[in-house]
Amino acid sequence: MEKKIRKICCIGAGYVGGPSMAVIADRCPYLDINVIDKNIERIAKWNSTNLEELPIYEPGLKEVIKRVRNRNLFFSNDLEKNIAEADMIFISVNTPTKSRGIGAGQASDLKWIESCARLIGEHSIGSSIIVEKSTIPVKTAQTIKSILDSYSFKKTLDNEKIKSFSILSNPEFLAEGTAISDLENPDRVLIGGEDEMAINTLKEIYLNWIKGSKIITTDLWSSELSKLIANAFLAQRISSINSITPLCELTGANINDVAIAIGMDSRIGKYFLNSGPGFGGSCFKKDILNLVYICNHYGLIEVADYWEKVIDINNWQQKRLTRIIVEKLFGTISEKKLAILGFAFKANTNDIRESPAIRICKDLLEEGCYLNIFDPKVNELQIKEELGVNDKDRLPETNRGSWVFTSSITQAVNGADAIVVLTDWSEFNNLNFENFSKIMRSPSWVFDTRNVVNVKAAKLYGFKVWKLGDGSTN
Ligand code: NAD
Ligand code: UGA
Repeated sequence: MEKKIRKICCIGAGYVGGPSMAVIADRCPYLDINVIDKNIERIAKWNSTNLEELPIYEPGLKEVIKRVRNRNLFFSNDLEKNIAEADMIFISVNTPTKSRGIGAGQASDLKWIESCARLIGEHSIGSSIIVEKSTIPVKTAQTIKSILDSYSFKKTLDNEKIKSFSILSNPEFLAEGTAISDLENPDRVLIGGEDEMAINTLKEIYLNWIKGSKIITTDLWSSELSKLIANAFLAQRISSINSITPLCELTGANINDVAIAIGMDSRIGKYFLNSGPGFGGSCFKKDILNLVYICNHYGLIEVADYWEKVIDINNWQQKRLTRIIVEKLFGTISEKKLAILGFAFKANTNDIRESPAIRICKDLLEEGCYLNIFDPKVNELQIKEELGVNDKDRLPETNRGSWVFTSSITQAVNGADAIVVLTDWSEFNNLNFENFSKIMRSPSWVFDTRNVVNVKAAKLYGFKVWKLGDGSTN
């Protein structure tokens, strides 16, 4: 048995809420879906008639939005009305790492989750299915339930209609840059819960486009925990391959060949073995930190230490890259110009949260160099929020370097001593080294941290090349 659902509301119009609801709306035209957010500017961008102004960039997103927006998908700041009318409410708000207080630097800050539970308790009418889509620590469903139960109890005392809630965990596994295809064709959909009718109701929605064999159901706690563990395992693979890159550089081996050789073992598998400047994005670090916090909480110190190492290696890789750049450029980059190609944490997104480019650029600036930064989708304001003072407002008496935002690769490269590739945008596969050799200072260097540069072409035009994990370029 399942419940008839007509209206869905999703709290949080971010990287998950926006695309995931757009795909549900696309595949289920019979549903009315309202994505709500307290951020007025964000909602205005989702409603912009110019689809280039959507608040997030994802390949394929514009096309889906064009089909469904104002048909059966709506974006609004009216939290109360949309919560009151909904039969099913998704919670898709941010769950960042706590910055102060108990658990600071590790535990997830659940204040946004709690405020959602209170909003729902206050405004929801009748029975509702509450779906946790945000990534949260195991046992969060219990917190949400306690808050909702207290509101129901209060309403009973006030002789109001009693509300009933079922809580489901339905973690999202999409990756940015491939969000739409991940949502349209996921490896699996995971639903955790106790109430069979609620589980079947959510399952029925996904069955509109996903095979039943891909929809797995479990208890709440296994579902919540699986999400953290999936991210921890993915991040662990990146730290594992990155930890081997210096060994390749020192021994003359090549990390890509090693990755191919080990990946052909079907037990290891070929995916997620690309070495790079370290993983970024809003989730891997925060979710592992959260796992570490939970392990410590339960006294599992060795387990916590084990997972913390995944983050240590990630930080070490980022620091290591700056050291190499300085060493290669005759031990100093003070007043040298570097072209930074790519600022997003990965290709095909405008997201810079936890991007390795942030740490690396900050370290380079500490060395007193000038950075010309180019990224096809990231804007100047985003970079300014992370790097702060740029060329225009730099105090000349400080020894710290400065940066400028450039709107083309050629502009970034003009007059530079080195090109540093930090994001795997396909635009960087065919750099015009012939032209660059004429406009850069020599000796001109290319530092490729993403294995995207055509080394042969660069060398042909006299470039010195350093490629991550490639012993032949060291
Ligand atoms: P986000 O920061 O892009 O969006 C969250 C939105 O929630 C913001 O716009 C914020 O204004 C809104 N919000 C917060 N509290 C609110 C409230 N009380 N009422 C109304 N609006 C509120 O975050 P995101 O990247 O979409 O991530 C959301 C969750 O999904 C996180 O838990 C994250 O770990 C998880 N997740 C993210 C990804 C990803 O690729 N970004 C993938 C899988 C899971
Ligand atoms: C990741 C997971 O892949 C998603 O399944 C999960 O839903 C999501 O986190 C989340 O919970 O937020 P995302 O961070 O968007 O998705 O992107 P990934 O493709 O996983 O890349 C993360 C980082 O790892 C990027 O900086 C990327 O460049 C890096 N990476 C990835 C590598 O360095 N090597 C690889 O082989 C793969």
